[in-house]
Amino acid sequence: MDDSVLDNYISAGRIAAAILAEGAKMIRTDASLLETVDAVEAMVAEQGAGLAFPLNLSINEDAAHDTASLGDSRVFERGDVIKLDLGVHLDGYIADTATTVDLGANALLIEASEQALLHAIDIVRPGATAGELGTAIQYEIERRGFKPVSNLTGHGLGGYTIHCPPTIPNIGLNGGPVLEEGMVFAIEPFATTGTGRVSEKVKKEIYSQISNKPVRMPAGRKIMEQIRDRRGLPFARRWLHDKKADLALPVLVRSGNLHVYPVLSDTAGSLVSQHEHTVIVTADGCIVTTRR
Ligand code: CO
Repeated sequence: MDDSVLDNYISAGRIAAAILAEGAKMIRTDASLLETVDAVEAMVAEQGAGLAFPLNLSINEDAAHDTASLGDSRVFERGDVIKLDLGVHLDGYIADTATTVDLGANALLIEASEQALLHAIDIVRPGATAGELGTAIQYEIERRGFKPVSNLTGHGLGGYTIHCPPTIPNIGLNGGPVLEEGMVFAIEPFATTGTGRVSEKVKKEIYSQISNKPVRMPAGRKIMEQIRDRRGLPFARRWLHDKKADLALPVLVRSGNLHVYPVLSDTAGSLVSQHEHTVIVTADGCIVTTRR
């Protein structure tokens, strides 16, 4: 890997780790979701870095892809299990990291995803397989009495790309991609008290551009203009500040210009925890870019 590319990955990781820790401190009972995401996203800009995706703030059975909407009046409540998933990039080189804040009494659930992540990181080296990581993740979560979320995975990272090979499963599979020196990927175990599978909710807050087909609707054209400098990285509905955006977004999804990331949830009443780090495979192990 080019030295300047490596520098960007390392610096993005350091920034993401520090800001994620600051963000986690802001989460307490009665604090506002909207103020939290605004503050965290502003910190990234203050560091001269870019957001690889909107801050994901997903609560309880919601595992991923929720964030505050414009005028969102929600506050954190006692008992909530809150996942913060932050992506920071420098020149397109991404650090993806997540942690869980427990406003209830769910220490073992939090420990499950955290220990799963640490044990998976311990295995990373050239020649190890993604399946071995998944096996370690599943073991650490199940031995604490929870289920891994089987249909969410870790993922490779590339320049301005948040999902590419290798896929890192959260359950034990035979084989899978063989890890090689220089690979960059996020490992993100989710532990749940629910079924171990997430499905899509109706709620949609996060989108990304996947094509540049001509758009007739003026509000749609305005959105395409506004998100062009994302270079395909996800954006939040909240960032658009346009009353007509809610009409235009589904049109842009149907025409194939945008991809939508609906909120992903386990069953109602369940609790999901998540921990995530970004790693770069080295000759004898890995660098964890997002570790403090
Ligand atoms: Co990720």
